Amino acid sequence: MLTKRLITAFTAGLIGFPLVAAAQPHDASVANHQPHLYDIADFGMQGSDITFAEHIAPILQRSCQNCHRPGGGGPMSLMTYDQVRPWAPVIKYRTAIRDRMGTMPPYFLEKNIGITEFKSDYSLSDLDLAMIQAWVDNGAQRGDPDKEPPLLVFDNSDEWSIGEPDLVIRSKEFSRPAVGPDWWGDIGLVPTGLKEDRYVAAIEVREVNDIPKDAGSDTVGGRYIVHHLTYTSGKLSEDGGEIVGDITSWPIHEVGRNADVFPVKAGRLLPANSALHLEATHMHSNGRETKAYVEFGIKFFPADYEPEYADRGPRTGNGIDIDVLPNMANQEFHNYVVLQEHTKIIAFEPHLHAPGVRMCMEAIWGHNQFTLNCVGYDHNWVKQYVYEDDAAPLLPKGTILHTIGYLDTTPANPNLADPRNWAGGGRRSVSNMFIDLGYSVTLTEEQFREEMAVRRAKMKDRNDYDVGCPMCWAPEYMDDKPSLAQGND
Ligand code: HEC
Repeated sequence: MLTKRLITAFTAGLIGFPLVAAAQPHDASVANHQPHLYDIADFGMQGSDITFAEHIAPILQRSCQNCHRPGGGGPMSLMTYDQVRPWAPVIKYRTAIRDRMGTMPPYFLEKNIGITEFKSDYSLSDLDLAMIQAWVDNGAQRGDPDKEPPLLVFDNSDEWSIGEPDLVIRSKEFSRPAVGPDWWGDIGLVPTGLKEDRYVAAIEVREVNDIPKDAGSDTVGGRYIVHHLTYTSGKLSEDGGEIVGDITSWPIHEVGRNADVFPVKAGRLLPANSALHLEATHMHSNGRETKAYVEFGIKFFPADYEPEYADRGPRTGNGIDIDVLPNMANQEFHNYVVLQEHTKIIAFEPHLHAPGVRMCMEAIWGHNQFTLNCVGYDHNWVKQYVYEDDAAPLLPKGTILHTIGYLDTTPANPNLADPRNWAGGGRRSVSNMFIDLGYSVTLTEEQFREEMAVRRAKMKDRNDYDVGCPMCWAPEYMDDKPSLAQGND
């Protein structure tokens, strides 16, 4: 159904739109999503020159094979020409979706607005898309096999992506029957055994279960029982029965989620005599009776480390007062938070439920209103967009942070259980959420000035505008460039 619909939209795009499409009209209705098509001639290349060996294989190695390989999370391997060739037309249309649900790779950043520098960005460039499209349109030629890059070798062992952890702790074992209702609740405490306070640099969570590694599964869901898990940590009470102080909440664990690496200036505390509290675990039967536990791999900063940024900024979004109408595209949610302190936004992580198709974050300061970022949303994927350190929004206190969620409850949205249902807010997947699960840190006046001076030093001149740094050229903040500040008002 979905595939057919998307192909139809795609073909319509081919006929009805100029080949070099401008930015996708940012209509949040799934039915109106348009493919991003480019003309390779605009990049000074000839379509017939584009080959798998020289142009396409490097793209697949960089952006696809991490999942599309034996043992990866993708449904088929895209390693060799023979494996890729039959998928060529589907690859063309899935990649051209670019920043909307259904796109490959699953990375939904709208590149034509706001900040574009993010860590671990494996999305495709305009040139990549132009090459894929020209390659497919010209018969998906292999080219000279001698020019193919050597096959990548993937390590399928259970190694941690953060490197060898300093501490590995595991939950107690739990199980799910082959078939059963979803289960949601508290699975208890996991003591850390720490004798001193330590700050966490990175944390990775994984489920270890008794599902045979070679067992076939059509979906990632068939390989796990923990769908997601939210947890906190804190000091243990005297009897060890509960956590009572220094409570910290950690990024949510979800199937397929990457490790969380915290910024060097913002490590998170795990105190002496502490425990993790796995307070909200959502488990899902997967067709096979499964026993499992979750493992937490933790890397610490050195023992004498102290974080420079100790306080977290506010969380934005609205989890309660939600009213989602049935069968309607382009519904919007709005949330406003006034920043009480100078704030650096480290990561943007839109969280909606099935109706969600897009989220934007904008900053309103004085008479300025500017979009920091917009990203598409697909409830099949959980994506966190972590800003590069020198591109992250640096917002003065008093800024109004405005988040906008866009929803589509028409049958065009394939993620919905039933487009006829009204839905409110709630934790279940059939209810709704509207939150930015990303995070920010607050800055002292001095830190704010320092960060802006670093940012300003990278700008060419007064006309070089950094959307993430609205105060960068404000005279009162230009201690380091007084001559420029003078001509500023
Ligand atoms: C993070 C993992 C991941 C990455 C990276 C990724 N894929 Fe996928 N891909 C998947 C999963 C999972 C599915 C199945 C779910 C779906 O269809 O959306 C899929 C589905 C597809 C499909 C549709 C298959 C079908 O049955 O119709 C195509 C085509 C595809 N991917 C191509 C690519 C290409 C090309 C890239 C790189 C430019 C890429 N993928 C990157 C995980 C990934």
